[in-house]
Amino acid sequence: MMSEVAQVDGALNRRMLLGTASAAGVAALLGGCSADRPAYASVPGTGLHAIGASRNIRFGSAFAWAPPGEDAASFGNPAYAALLQAECGMLVAENQMKWQALRPSPTQFDFARFDAMAAWAQQQGKALRGHTLLWHYDRWLPDWLNAYDYGARPEAEAERLLVEHVRTVTARYGTRIASYDVVNEAVDPDAGTLRRTSLSRAMGSAEAVLDLAFHTARAHAPHAELVYNDYMSWEAGNERHREGVLQLLQGFRTRGTPVDALGVQSHLAIFDSGVPVAELVERQSPAWRGFLDAVVAMGYRLVITELDTRDRGLPADSATRDAGVAAYTQGYLELMLSYPQLTDVLTWGLADRYGWLRTFDQRPDGLPTRGLPYDADLRPKPMRAAIAQAFANAAPRPAR
Ligand code: G3I
Repeated sequence: MMSEVAQVDGALNRRMLLGTASAAGVAALLGGCSADRPAYASVPGTGLHAIGASRNIRFGSAFAWAPPGEDAASFGNPAYAALLQAECGMLVAENQMKWQALRPSPTQFDFARFDAMAAWAQQQGKALRGHTLLWHYDRWLPDWLNAYDYGARPEAEAERLLVEHVRTVTARYGTRIASYDVVNEAVDPDAGTLRRTSLSRAMGSAEAVLDLAFHTARAHAPHAELVYNDYMSWEAGNERHREGVLQLLQGFRTRGTPVDALGVQSHLAIFDSGVPVAELVERQSPAWRGFLDAVVAMGYRLVITELDTRDRGLPADSATRDAGVAAYTQGYLELMLSYPQLTDVLTWGLADRYGWLRTFDQRPDGLPTRGLPYDADLRPKPMRAAIAQAFANAAPRPAR
């Protein structure tokens, strides 16, 4: 019998396609695309979500909003929408639920783009994660909030603003959002201490801000999984970041802050050109297991929220890079999936054609990073097969 993974790179199958893609997506696939636009070039026999589901693992991805038809990682791009439909059981907005997107001013909310994304996800029967109710880092908060005048009673005003934000967002989406990154990246990776923002200065401590965000989320979205999300990773150099996150998680438990899970972003990176990938995996595993053991010992679940793999340490040749990225990702996922506390795996986008790695991460040779499961022409890469194989190899999780 052909394995699930062997089916993955099969040629375009018209019948399967018609069963999974939207009418618009199918039209694009069957000839509606212009020459410089990729069609969804090769359709896997079984979507990643379906492969994961056989082990009670959910697979999903970040996606974006863009004007209909724009060449973007959006549901409004038929080729990309078909990919999301075929592969994902869960979606998360890459940017459109952040304060910068939702809060043009202290007195306004603008839900238009995220509403459209949430509606599409619901229409497609996809679960939705919320990212993020509070990115506690002034670099990514709106300018108006960084310069905000909290007045004569700064603590009360900061509490009012934060509670209003969390309550308004959670009330609007109700049970449509099953899991929230309530707080994102509150730990300074170099110092291991909590970042300060205008909110924490007004309230007197960062802990007070984070606790209030979680308590408010629990009160107004009691159904939802509440996640602390950060990018401490398994590569060397992240030790202080990991220690800072453990301290924060311990503090949540000591204070009775309602946090259910650690979001392990999983922006992986192969930096070192001199070490074979298998050896890197082996070398990094013990410290990483120590970190995860400490997290689950405190009673937290785990979520992989933003998986991608930078390939800076690998040579230019695409095939070599793709094989290295696939092996590294599979080694990582197999370690992660050895923890039954992990049930959701989301990549930060599906295709190298789009996304933050194209602008935020530069290889020394200037070539674009090949860090996602599909390439710039929306063709599946070995990384996709590696994810499928890691799911197929995983022990079934307990049913939810
Ligand atoms: O919306 C404007 C657009 O109008 C303009 O044409 C364009 C020109 O560059 O900029 C657009 O905004 C950019 C936006 O991405 C959409 O592309 C912002 O400048 C840019 O700062 C923003 O970056 C995002 C970043 O978070 C900051 O919000 C990335 O897309 C997004 O992938 C990244 O995601 C973060 C997670 O939220 C948290 N974890 C790390 C992860 C990667 O950095």
